[in-house]
Amino acid sequence: MDTSVFESYESEVRSYCRHFPTVFTKAKGANFYDENGRKYIDFFCGAGAVNYGHNNPEIKQKLIDYLMSDGIMHALDMYTVPKREFIETFEEKVLKPRGLNYKIQFPGPTGTNANEAALKLVRKFTGRQNVFAFMGAFHGMTLGSLSLTTDKGSRKGAGVPLENVTFIPAPYMFPELDVIAYMQRLLDDDHSGIEKPAAVFLETIQAEGGIRVFTVDFLKKLREFCTKNDILMVVDDVQVGCCRSGTFFSFERAGIQPDIVTMSKSIGGYGLPLALTLINPAIDVWTPGEHNGTFRGNQLAFVAAKGGIEYMLSHKVEEQVQKKSAVIKNYLEQEVLPLDSRLELRGMGMIWGIEFEKIPVVGLADRVIEQCFANGLIIEGAGRKNSVVKLMPPLVISEEELTEGMTIIKKSVQQVLAAL
Ligand SMILES: Cc1ncc(COP(=O)(O)O)c(C=O)c1O
Repeated sequence: MDTSVFESYESEVRSYCRHFPTVFTKAKGANFYDENGRKYIDFFCGAGAVNYGHNNPEIKQKLIDYLMSDGIMHALDMYTVPKREFIETFEEKVLKPRGLNYKIQFPGPTGTNANEAALKLVRKFTGRQNVFAFMGAFHGMTLGSLSLTTDKGSRKGAGVPLENVTFIPAPYMFPELDVIAYMQRLLDDDHSGIEKPAAVFLETIQAEGGIRVFTVDFLKKLREFCTKNDILMVVDDVQVGCCRSGTFFSFERAGIQPDIVTMSKSIGGYGLPLALTLINPAIDVWTPGEHNGTFRGNQLAFVAAKGGIEYMLSHKVEEQVQKKSAVIKNYLEQEVLPLDSRLELRGMGMIWGIEFEKIPVVGLADRVIEQCFANGLIIEGAGRKNSVVKLMPPLVISEEELTEGMTIIKKSVQQVLAAL
């Protein structure tokens, strides 16, 4: 496969392509195809951007119809029919049935944009500069979001100090530590040296952090802590929203209502760029245009996003996830974990991680990822030292293909372990 044009002319910053050195042409459902006509099963899912499958036929038809009607393609943040229909659908079919009340801000179309908007807003509303975030967090690569992101490699790229964030140990890091009491102490102790934060940012399942699920108990206590101390709670649902965890929003399992929710990736329905910053109306203190951008609200993405929600409901995607979650867990527990007693499994819904850190071989998860690719599966890594193999198939994958993909993981782990 000739990849020389990329290697010659594309910046060294390119990343995922290094794990998958082929040239892709087509994708359908849970499958990718390359220029040689080779088929791959996709367990990476555009890093969570195509939950409803590649080229989902129902959403595609809506896009084709819109294109053929000469529907408006770019309108800044002007009022348009696709935006109206998306807002109405999101309000009626997603927020209201869950008893949620948010204003919708359309920032620039990526996850990091949604978090930048949230960061500015919590600081403006509270007049405080500091923010709490959890060790292991990933919130994006632009400077504000990067200041909330913990991995050293990403932070090094900033080239300037990343400030005004206090990192709190994530609840799984020190099981004996009461993280809520620790945060309270930071606030109450006049010798803690820590400024009261405007907000606590969190992923309810740290994805890039290695598939670390925050418990319902912790999420509830965190909500209480924020309310009691007049601190805003911001849930970043960029990766694990849109049913990935088993419910549309990942925090639903805790019955809580964050003050701000950020979304991107699969909210665009078809892999199209769209992001939302959902804001408790009481804190929507923006002035017009105070957070601006040319590509706020992509018209085609609005059409696909509405189509995505309709598809999600008509195909009962939340139920599908809950069912397939058990299939994944059972298979990995019974077929993969027994391959080496040092392997661990974490996850929920349709995001799962196989942890290799206890096997003292550098780059082991990367080897498994490369072996999976050689065997016809696209899958990525996550976690500290990239020691986790992360399963994130499209939510609509058939159970047959799901098992086929996991069989490739099993075979690949066997091959890599045998070669040690
Ligand atoms: C939880 C979370 N937040 C934010 C982002 C950043 O999104 P984007 O890459 O679209 O800027 C990501 C990306 O993986 C993410 O997983």
